[in-house]
Amino acid sequence: MTTDPTIDPFEPATIGPITLRNRFIKAATFEGLGTGKDVGDDLIDFHRAVASGGVGLTTLAFCAVSRDGRGAPKELIVRPELVVSLRRFTEAINADGAAAAIQLGHAGPVAAAVGRGGGLAPSRVFAPQALRFTRPATEDDLCRIVDDFGAAAAIAVEAGFSVIELHFGHGYLVSSFLSPKLNRRTDRWGGSVERRARLARAVAERVRERAGSSVAVTAKLNMADGVAGGLWLDDSVATALLLEADGTLDALELTGGSSFQNPMYLFRGDAPVAEMAALFPQPLRLGLKLTARKFMPTYPFEEAFFLPYARQFRDALSMPLVLLGGINRLDTVTSALAEGFQFVAMARALLREPDLVNRWRVERQHEGLCVHCNKCMPSIYRGTHCVLVPPEERPGRIGSS
Ligand SMILES: Cc1cc2nc3c(=O)[nH]c(=O)nc-3n(C[C@H](O)[C@H](O)[C@H](O)COP(=O)(O)O)c2cc1C
Repeated sequence: MTTDPTIDPFEPATIGPITLRNRFIKAATFEGLGTGKDVGDDLIDFHRAVASGGVGLTTLAFCAVSRDGRGAPKELIVRPELVVSLRRFTEAINADGAAAAIQLGHAGPVAAAVGRGGGLAPSRVFAPQALRFTRPATEDDLCRIVDDFGAAAAIAVEAGFSVIELHFGHGYLVSSFLSPKLNRRTDRWGGSVERRARLARAVAERVRERAGSSVAVTAKLNMADGVAGGLWLDDSVATALLLEADGTLDALELTGGSSFQNPMYLFRGDAPVAEMAALFPQPLRLGLKLTARKFMPTYPFEEAFFLPYARQFRDALSMPLVLLGGINRLDTVTSALAEGFQFVAMARALLREPDLVNRWRVERQHEGLCVHCNKCMPSIYRGTHCVLVPPEERPGRIGSS
């Protein structure tokens, strides 16, 4: 992969068969809006704010491929009845000049705290958030879930999405299979990197088959779980090389951490323990407070905190890569592109300022206003927002413009 110091982040770029108007992607932030049964105006307005704010691509998230795959209440489960309202979503985003991505996934062990059937994992492990054990996936479960990914992808294409992003990170099902700590299986789904990567590759292959060649298919892949004995760079780079050789994906978005075991690793900065605990009933509230130091350790925030890991992927792979994690400055974006990353994805910076891309384009200013307080994290349970944005200015809320 050659580097190019002259790439303009505001110029169009292609991802698979899709041309985006620029290289800025709104990363998945579960919106926590509506009932989870349908796509309402609030959800559309939430994404229209970043679309009209200048991004090339915005990501609807998190969308479960099956009922037992939800990681939080009110998440959409992708099913045929949603096509009409999902199409309203994609048309609204396209009308604002942006493309629409949908993040598809199965929450796996992270689903242990949601509903009765959730908590599927490679092996039986204790889920402290749910105070119960996960259920080891059977061969039938895995075949069914691969099919579910394919069916959801076909629905996404019918609904007009330009990009399908597969969630292979954060301790969700596919990521938990990649983890040597969570995956202790001795069958064809566990053991060597090739076996632990089997689910990721099968999902990507089925999705590509069902999605066809008119849309881009990407994956958000963990580089490191941030957990002793979990996925680390040697195995994640090897997994990425297998995915690249399969030719099923158009790009990889590089992430890390685990919503199941170490959520702060994917955010850095202060851990909003009190705000999170307040959302849970007893005894889960007490459990979270008692385990917070271990479950939610704080990490100092650094601009582009995943860049040192992501560089190892850039060196090893030739496929397009999306840099993510703590991007809050325009000069970070330009230097990442000059280093050979094709796109950048931002989550919190765009919750703080949905029009950040336009502002950067016009003012050529470098700094975003997000302070990484992470108080947006617990807001997913009542409509995801930045607590520094006044209620009347929040996208997706009544009274917002
Ligand atoms: C409120 C909130 C909700 C999130 N929801 C999701 C999600 O549904 N799926 C996902 O893959 N990542 C999710 N993330 C993680 C972000 O996509 C991103 O990986 C992380 O915030 C680091 O990027 P940033 O430094 O630009 O914020 C969420 C982040 C936040 C702040």
